[in-house]
Amino acid sequence: MYTECIKLCGDTSDAAAIEKAAGLLKSGGVVAIPTETVYGLAASALDGEAVGEIFKIKGRPQDNPLIAHVCDEEMWARCVAEITTEARALANEFWPGPLTIILEKSPEISPVVTCGLDTVAVRMPFHPAALAVIRAAGMPLAAPSANLSGRPSPTTARHVLNDLEGKIQLILDGGACEVGVESTVITLAGDIPTILRPGIISLADIQRVLPNATISDAAGREPEAGERVASPGMKYKHYSPRAEVTVVRGTLAGFAEYVAPRAGDSAWALCFEGEQNEIPLPCLCYGAKGDAPSQAHGLFSALRELDDLGAKTVWARCPDIESDSESYAVYNRLLRAAGFKVVTTD
Ligand code: TXA
Ligand code: MG
Repeated sequence: MYTECIKLCGDTSDAAAIEKAAGLLKSGGVVAIPTETVYGLAASALDGEAVGEIFKIKGRPQDNPLIAHVCDEEMWARCVAEITTEARALANEFWPGPLTIILEKSPEISPVVTCGLDTVAVRMPFHPAALAVIRAAGMPLAAPSANLSGRPSPTTARHVLNDLEGKIQLILDGGACEVGVESTVITLAGDIPTILRPGIISLADIQRVLPNATISDAAGREPEAGERVASPGMKYKHYSPRAEVTVVRGTLAGFAEYVAPRAGDSAWALCFEGEQNEIPLPCLCYGAKGDAPSQAHGLFSALRELDDLGAKTVWARCPDIESDSESYAVYNRLLRAAGFKVVTTD
């Protein structure tokens, strides 16, 4: 299959591309679209067969449910049994944007989207092209990240092509994704609002709206064998480059000392901007120290670049890890890319 990639310009000339994507989606097709977090692989959330194609194309485990993307509240109401007061409060504050809200599902959403769960995850993205495609398609779009399952999520159209060329018909190229890590996922289906996947909207941000909100402790550690995790996606090894990654906690001096005897044999350091001169290994940067948005923006791209550079072993500088901060999203992704391998130097 030929994969067409259409560059969007952010003006009215994009209308034809949006219409083309919507046409494919309405006829049961699968299309890659930009969002502000990462690229999504979209299909109609009302069409079980179309959604089944997403699972096949990505090689996604059958028990990992998808997010339904909507463009307005009316469409949200079609997806869920009831929009609760708490849900509306979060949406008022953070939508459109990188927050996914889990509620009890409506019968209209295909069970293929939710993997048979009685809840559904819904998000209203901020990206104008994503909103335009949903609006033109006229239905909620199920869309996981547009990567092969297990690979780092795609933050450029080039990343999508590298994983999915020949497997999908169309990619809309909206340039590099602004946020760079996937949305914060919060469930309102239990007694206490609980973040299942941290994102750039932090627990502290959420608590300003819902003071009793909390975060699942599974976000910062490896699930135990056989553990039943609230968010199926969190149990899989994720975001992995081919290289073997280890997170190294501690100061820059401690890091430099730790990696020095480990140089050679295609070993690389994944560090913060400006640290290269202190580290006796080839270095790639993924943002500025203490600056979570820049780290989030750069992480997945850097993980893919390390593969292109032929890295076999990667030692990664550790972001800040307070569980209520935005940097926790970066730590959560890096930890999974490293298969939960962490060493502490000081
Ligand atoms: O930013 C994002 O969220 C991106 C863009 C494309 O919107 N999408 C994304 O989708 O990251 P995906 O499929 O890669 O991740 C969805 C996460 C998974 O961890 C999944 O287990 C969880 O949401 N999830 C979805 N529905 C759920 C449900 N009903 N209950 C619990 N977890 C759910
Ligand atoms: Mg994903």
